[in-house]
Amino acid sequence: MSDIRWWRHAVTYQVYLRSFADGNGDGTGDVAGLRSRLAYIRSLGVDAIWINPWYESPLHDGGYDVADYRRIDPRFGTLEEATALMREAKEIGLRVMLDLVPNHTSSEHRWFEEAMASPPDSPARHRYHFRPGRGPDGSRPPNNWRSVFGGPAWSRAPDGEWYLHLFDVSQPDLNWANDQVRAEFVDIIRFWLDRGASGFRVDVANALDKDPLYPDVASDRDHMIIAAEGPDHPFWDRDLLHEVVREWREVIDEYPGTMLVAEAWVASWDRLALYLRPDEYHQAFDFRFMLLPWDPEVMREAIATALTGAATVGSVPTWVLSNHDVVRHVTRYGLESVPDARDWLLEGDRSLLDEETGLRRGRAATLLMLGLPGSAYLYQGEELGLPEVHDLPIEVLDDPVWARSGHKQKGRDGCRVPIPWNKDGSSFGFGVDGSWLPQPEEWGGLSVEAQDGVPGSTLEMYRTALRLRSEHLVGDESLEWVESGPTTMTFRRGSGVTVVVNFGQDPVALPEGEVLVSSRDLRDGMLPADSAAWVATPDADGPRA
Ligand code: GLC
Repeated sequence: MSDIRWWRHAVTYQVYLRSFADGNGDGTGDVAGLRSRLAYIRSLGVDAIWINPWYESPLHDGGYDVADYRRIDPRFGTLEEATALMREAKEIGLRVMLDLVPNHTSSEHRWFEEAMASPPDSPARHRYHFRPGRGPDGSRPPNNWRSVFGGPAWSRAPDGEWYLHLFDVSQPDLNWANDQVRAEFVDIIRFWLDRGASGFRVDVANALDKDPLYPDVASDRDHMIIAAEGPDHPFWDRDLLHEVVREWREVIDEYPGTMLVAEAWVASWDRLALYLRPDEYHQAFDFRFMLLPWDPEVMREAIATALTGAATVGSVPTWVLSNHDVVRHVTRYGLESVPDARDWLLEGDRSLLDEETGLRRGRAATLLMLGLPGSAYLYQGEELGLPEVHDLPIEVLDDPVWARSGHKQKGRDGCRVPIPWNKDGSSFGFGVDGSWLPQPEEWGGLSVEAQDGVPGSTLEMYRTALRLRSEHLVGDESLEWVESGPTTMTFRRGSGVTVVVNFGQDPVALPEGEVLVSSRDLRDGMLPADSAAWVATPDADGPRA
């Protein structure tokens, strides 16, 4: 815990609290459940956890609609329990990152209730983006901006003004040009740091600044968060937002060892690097890497770009393969011919899914990611090889994306299904009385109980890789590419570990040295298709031909 720059090489485990462990038997995960499973997280060998929003919320967007930033939602527990959790985690060497949601509040936040009850142009409305509508009677939205979840980004207040919500109608966007908004978040940051948090993952970090003239966007493509090109876009990735970040950073710097990680969907590493300047974020997720197809050339190029891009500002990349917003990576890699797995979830051809290949590639991708310089995030359940639950019945869908997209997108519930802890029993040990989303029957076989201590299981592969990473790779930020043929990716780390990933169908030879870990059993010493290995090569010049 003494390493002040721990975040540069940390592995953080993402806890989607609702779905992690249910301590009180109401079918929803909670702080009590998480406390009871802290030792498990520690046993993985990670450095920190990031907890998705646990604040008081109507849960219209899984808690990203915060009604009170200083209270824990009663379904999750109490502030006392949350504080105890942060203390207990620290005692066993786990830092706790919280989720800061600054772009919008819930429509049930007292500020928004006050704004709705106040007249146009009042101070209460200035904390949000209220605008008159277009047309003679103002009945058309102020501009053509659309919500990320589908539908217009504006909804009408009873008195005729419109308010902006880049996400769900229940998530009004805050106005970051407003001093009260700025002061409030500095206070919220201090509130949690004072209670033991080690920092924050900042939600939609690329949307805080809005063009005060609210111009139309040029095309539909401009709404896509990933295509957003700063700095001239009216709401994505604008330069002014960095002022706010620097303000937060000053506060963070008063608490040694704490840090900020940005969720910033931006167009290029040139833009992402701006978030990583020395007086801004410590980490920013590299989402471009996350969404790549299983292709050595494309991945190598993305890794090289990330390493160079981060280095321009003296930083390192932050890698991630899965989170609570995307189709789980073992499923993505099992859908080779599907351009966007999200579209496939609703009515896609099920025969296109190759689960076995997906799991193999998913495990290989994990060894690739954990072998890279920089930090990494793991999403709960990926250490069990959990796939996306693609066949959730539509009656149980909870993600606002389902309704807002006009039932065209199934949404993100399939990666949020509660964790199977035991081989059998009610909700496989998630809780004592069911789970808020149904778990597939076969998940008992993927449970922690089924994999714990079993050589070759995905769980044990993660544990081994994390242990080896801290033994061999931490502290070394160098990477040297090794020439190794069109379907293989090979790189060597300064500490003398060579990472080899076989993307092809034929087995490949490994360099001379001790094989530390592999994602599949070797065949006659060769690395089989769709797998990866770490080899100790203290003096190697590269792999054998
Ligand atoms: C972020 C969160 C996502 C949420 C959205 C709106 O992208 O990760 O889950 O729906 O922000 O807050």
